[in-house]
Amino acid sequence: MASEFPRHLLDIESLRREQIEEVLGLAGRFKRERAAARAGKARAPRHQILPGRIVVTLFFEASTRTRSSFEVAAHALGAEVLSFQKDASSVTKGESLQDTVRNLEAIGADVLVVRHPAAGAPRAIARAVRASVINAGDGAHEHPTQALLDALTLREKLGTLEGKVISIVGDIAHSRVARSNVHCLSKLGSRVRVAGPSTLLPAGVEKLGCEVARTLPDALRDADAVMMLRIQQERIADARIPGTRDYARVWGLSARTLELLPPRAVVLHPGPVNRGVELSSEVMDGERSLVMDQVDSGVAVRMATLALCLGAA
Ligand code: CP
Repeated sequence: MASEFPRHLLDIESLRREQIEEVLGLAGRFKRERAAARAGKARAPRHQILPGRIVVTLFFEASTRTRSSFEVAAHALGAEVLSFQKDASSVTKGESLQDTVRNLEAIGADVLVVRHPAAGAPRAIARAVRASVINAGDGAHEHPTQALLDALTLREKLGTLEGKVISIVGDIAHSRVARSNVHCLSKLGSRVRVAGPSTLLPAGVEKLGCEVARTLPDALRDADAVMMLRIQQERIADARIPGTRDYARVWGLSARTLELLPPRAVVLHPGPVNRGVELSSEVMDGERSLVMDQVDSGVAVRMATLALCLGAA
């Protein structure tokens, strides 16, 4: 069936709720199939949805989860994967971003999965090529597949996102994850609350459609879930907090501060986690943590977005 899903996935802000629901529905099916195969209850799913298609992962910033799960997702759909390595490429000889992507398209790329430190780089690439472009994180702008995998994980755990209170705590100012999640969870009917040191909260953040809490207890009280974020040191030129020990004491989620969260509420983190800073090991590895489930959801969500962007679902 032909899909109305956009050819590019550049942000959550411009997606309609029904398009988000389409990703989550398909991703949920892929996730259940993968789980059944892992449990030995079914053969490993072989979706030859993208045979002969070439998916290029083009990362200008480091990644463990996003690049790996896009590559596993592409293989699972029968596509070929080309893992572009910036430091071994002609970017080091001065080739421009536009020339790089045009050459990759001439080699056969059908999809460019792009992570870049500059906000707007995936959109600029989308203007330069005919291939689909998926934003895998651009500066402090958006990380749409992270928000989609968070929504899938939360919806499976909470049953629905409608009316749920989801708190996002940490470095909101520099977080593309926070921005995409505010848009995504709000569109799905949740009340989104952000909290962090005033130096790490962008002015006018309420305009994104979220509430603001000024303390960790205020962020955790009556929340159904809390998403802890690391401080994005790579995007901060000056010191915004007195030190990590002080930050952990005031804003970190530990066995002590977890008591402030309602008993059934769950804990998320997009990774990478700075253990002992925003999240203690006890909480990270505890029974209320959904961190590894988020990573599992990531493969399914990336399978769904690849299939939908290429009109193959
Ligand atoms: N959450 C996330 O984007 O992780 P990576 O930086 O490891 O891809």
